[in-house]
Amino acid sequence: MPTTPNAQRPTPNTPTPQHLNTSTPLREEALQLGISLTSLPHHVAVIMDGNGRWAKKKGLGRLLGHREGYKTLRGVLLAASELGIRYLTVYAFSAENWRRPAEEVAGLMKLIETAARDELRLMHKNNVRVQVAGRMDEVPEGLRRALEHGIETTKDNTGITFTLAVNYGGRAEIVDAVKSIVASGVPVEQITEESISAHLYNPAQPDPDLMIRTAGEMRWSNFLIWQSAYCELVVTDVTWPEFGPNDLLQAVAVYQRRTRKFGATV
Ligand code: IPE
Ligand code: IPE
Ligand code: MG
Repeated sequence: MPTTPNAQRPTPNTPTPQHLNTSTPLREEALQLGISLTSLPHHVAVIMDGNGRWAKKKGLGRLLGHREGYKTLRGVLLAASELGIRYLTVYAFSAENWRRPAEEVAGLMKLIETAARDELRLMHKNNVRVQVAGRMDEVPEGLRRALEHGIETTKDNTGITFTLAVNYGGRAEIVDAVKSIVASGVPVEQITEESISAHLYNPAQPDPDLMIRTAGEMRWSNFLIWQSAYCELVVTDVTWPEFGPNDLLQAVAVYQRRTRKFGATV
């Protein structure tokens, strides 16, 4: 008899903050779209793609596209928080993005560092808890320090958990988990899906329920490949700089119309 597969790591029973019982224009809009605020995706992941294409369309340089994308992220994070989503994880820089021209890579690193410093006050005020995913020992020191400061400052916040994936690769994360399992001396027979999950970068986080990809590509690009085994994928043609709170609502509405089966019958 095969054992029950670990289709998805269990969603922790996180308490709903008091403010979520209050009505806001965004929550009203969600209700008008037929969204149920009591069955929101618990964890939303976003592949923020299309900054370059947006910039090209406007006759601008790629870095201006990334800057505009950063402004989008501020709005989407606040909207997700206001809506009542408990975890938002965004792909800011992949382990493969080092292959881009040095000037773009340096610009992105600087932009993420500046954003991490400049947005901390706003995030803290909104009760956001900041976390990161990725190989932090390989990113520039200034960026690493800014991220560590953000994590430390917000660690006791009880609102949305916002995870910035920087120098993140899904395969690299699995390699790092395996290394940590081997180093901890776990016997072979105790290696299970649960023990691998327990050695990922953020083991306390539930798996994503909804993954949104902007700018139309139908691929994962190495994002959360272990955790997204059963998450629902919603791809929109809208580029990331153009993506707004309303597009987030649309994606949630699509998600709520799906039937999740986890391999079983319903
Ligand atoms: C996403 O936008 C941001 C990062 C990958 C850092 P892109 O820069 O990939 O935009 P496109 O795909 O070239 O349009
Ligand atoms: C994925 O986008 C990485 C981020 C959004 C940070 P890419 O633009 O790097 O993905 P590919 O190269 O089109 O697969
Ligand atoms: Mg891209």
